[in-house]
Amino acid sequence: MRAIVLGSAAGGGFPQWNCGCGNCVAVRKGRPGFEPRTQDSLAVTAGALNTGTFALVNASPEILLQIQRTRALWPRAPRHSPISAIVLTNGDMDHVLGLFSLRESWPLALYVTASVREGLEQSAFIRTLRRFEGQLVVRELILGETTELADASNEPMGLSVRAFPTAGKLPVHFVGKATESPEDSIGLSFTDNTGGSLAYAAATASADVALEGHDVVFFDGTFFREDELRRLGLSKSLAKDMAHIPIDGENGSLARLSKLGARKIYTHINNTNPILAPDSDERRAVEAAGWEVAYDGMEITVGSSDVGGPK
Ligand code: MLT
Ligand code: MN
Ligand code: ZN
Repeated sequence: MRAIVLGSAAGGGFPQWNCGCGNCVAVRKGRPGFEPRTQDSLAVTAGALNTGTFALVNASPEILLQIQRTRALWPRAPRHSPISAIVLTNGDMDHVLGLFSLRESWPLALYVTASVREGLEQSAFIRTLRRFEGQLVVRELILGETTELADASNEPMGLSVRAFPTAGKLPVHFVGKATESPEDSIGLSFTDNTGGSLAYAAATASADVALEGHDVVFFDGTFFREDELRRLGLSKSLAKDMAHIPIDGENGSLARLSKLGARKIYTHINNTNPILAPDSDERRAVEAAGWEVAYDGMEITVGSSDVGGPK
């Protein structure tokens, strides 16, 4: 299995359009080591980069730019896309807006939980992905169950995914409107026929999630500190109010998850997070504990890479 990080930032991206925090100023000025980041997305394939079909984890608002700068996702015929499926971890804007940018008539399989599906169906916008029969084939993910991914015409992709519960929340636009459910926000465990396994949990308020036994773990790197936004005077919200576990602290992900045997990568990184500064103590602390910091364009090989996958 191979994975490409299409976007490594949290909602808002890096820099965020209306943010003048130290990190956002530094990246706008092009200070060395500060790299712009687009919003959270990962491309996964069981095949080779130039021939495999891809499942995207989430559809970022910057999806068109992400595709444009990722050769593996370019069309291989006059009307074609290597993107066959999209798996959503929740219905947040940073994960769904990109769907509507993929409306130009290419069949896609969309894997979502029932709760996320209901949320999407409430928007008239979803109809723009129903221009012809079979353009958007929606299939439901059930917590704890393993699903073999297939493209819109049911061709297997050589990848399986299992949704596991994370301590997440409803999208901002449904808070107080929809009933909460454990299916509102999920983590994903991917496996392929090479035996490789990759977990993705970018929105969780708790470290008690099913991450054991994976080769690679992408984890919620939104905030370094619980009160990061308050300290900077940017918001009253704590990390937990947004269902994100901070990296730091007794119950933070660094203390709780550094012992995982996997290759560990922080992603969905908020622009305020000091790990984005190349020379910060916080960056050094996560690296010393064995973590990597995802960046746009990062390519990962999981398990033995040269075997398997259709095509
Ligand atoms: C989050 O990760 O907490 C959300 O992306 C926030 C949002 O939707 O603005
Ligand atoms: Mn987000
Ligand atoms: Zn900022």
